Amino acid sequence: MRHVVLGWNKEYETSVILHYFYYNFEHYMKTFIQVNDLGDLKLAVKEALEIKKNRFAYKKLGEDKTLLMVFFNSSLRTRLSTQKAAMNLGMNTIVLDINQGAWRLETEKGVIMDGDKSEHLLEAIPVMGCYCDIIGVRSFARLENKEEDYSEYILQQFIQYSGRPVFSMEGATTHPLQAFADLITIEEFRDKPRPKVVMSWAPHPKALPQAVPNSFADFMNEADVDFVITHPEGYELDPRFVRGAKIEYNQEKAFEGADFIYAKNWSIFADDHYGQIGCSDKKWTIDAAKMRLTNHAKFMHCLPVRRNVIVTDEVIESPQSIVIPEAANREISCETVLKRMLESIQE
Ligand code: CP
Repeated sequence: MRHVVLGWNKEYETSVILHYFYYNFEHYMKTFIQVNDLGDLKLAVKEALEIKKNRFAYKKLGEDKTLLMVFFNSSLRTRLSTQKAAMNLGMNTIVLDINQGAWRLETEKGVIMDGDKSEHLLEAIPVMGCYCDIIGVRSFARLENKEEDYSEYILQQFIQYSGRPVFSMEGATTHPLQAFADLITIEEFRDKPRPKVVMSWAPHPKALPQAVPNSFADFMNEADVDFVITHPEGYELDPRFVRGAKIEYNQEKAFEGADFIYAKNWSIFADDHYGQIGCSDKKWTIDAAKMRLTNHAKFMHCLPVRRNVIVTDEVIESPQSIVIPEAANREISCETVLKRMLESIQE
């Protein structure tokens, strides 16, 4: 913790206090779940782009520090990019796949544990905290109980009981590392100060959580973009994430003049059909004809993507597709977050 010496001059005193708050809280990061955790978003993107120029510049920062990555669900990009980001910062990494080789964990409070679950999260989490300095957690929505999913009860227990800074590697309701990487990518590829960014629902054979679209909306609403969401009626997302975004139910109309198309499927958020599939209409698949309505828009998707369901081969293989640089930026978004967390625990 830095010491603050307050001078007699009121103006000076105010500036010292502001500097103190700016320096210690703007970059102070104990959790990363939503856009607000980054503080000033423009500064965060600037910092990320600086890190990208020399991703090994902070190699000393993570020396003798350990990152624990806890996966309750599968992953390709998050697993690799988070580990790579930690290694760039000189950290050691431990990966725990809860469903492969760990004791089966009980997550509910107050249950009689006479079934197949050998250990409770309430012991497991503080134990995990003993072996590391920072924890990343992936724990998807079960899509059975909206209140339970939206309480983020797994992630919240890690925050409460681990004694360590905790970041989401995709929780039940948000995927902030993805949305931060998406914003970095938009910053790199935009050719105008305020691009039109359209997030489009697209069909999928399985019911998927709302975490990615929630976070994308969360970030776009704070970024300097003209943000539009298009989806079939009945697919309205949580208003806490949608906020002031424009909703357009006509996908083709939404695409007109777009600079970025961000495709994603999600299941129904509304109470009565929460977690269900309400539409499988392939008319919502993103194809070349729809992309021609745009302003030569870049195509984005967080991946993994179902080809010829979400997006046609032609679009994802076209020069307009930036899904690979988008995935590459996952390393940068994560390194920025880990750097800030390491700086916080060293104060
Ligand atoms: N986009 C993303 O989080 O990919 P993974 O599920 O493979 O980690």
